[in-house]
Amino acid sequence: MQPTIAHIGIAVASVDAAAAFYRDVLGLHVSEPELADGARIVHLDFGPSAVELLEPLADDSPIGKFLARRGPGIHHVCYRVPDLDAALAACRAQGYTLIDETPRTGAGGCRIAFVHPKATNGILIELTE
Ligand code: CO
Repeated sequence: MQPTIAHIGIAVASVDAAAAFYRDVLGLHVSEPELADGARIVHLDFGPSAVELLEPLADDSPIGKFLARRGPGIHHVCYRVPDLDAALAACRAQGYTLIDETPRTGAGGCRIAFVHPKATNGILIELTE
């Protein structure tokens, strides 16, 4: 299996306000919000890929800090890989810093892990399978 883009996570001040574009212009279904990682998350289906709108639940949450520092915008890109454990082992072997040393459960109940953006051109990368 070739890696694919699972989703793009976009930090927003309000998922309700941000979802309007996707619902009213693109005609997409807006999921019920889910709470994970200190954020209110709305999932928008783009076929094999998705967009997740991430609204912070608190200013000191990861998304809250990102919004304060950088403003709204792309927060992370999530790549789907065939074998998450193998991908994390490859990261370690090649010196990429992992934020999650072992996979954990992310939004939607998927196994995920984040790679530190300092070695990936400033993009916070989430891996899932
Ligand atoms: Co994500």
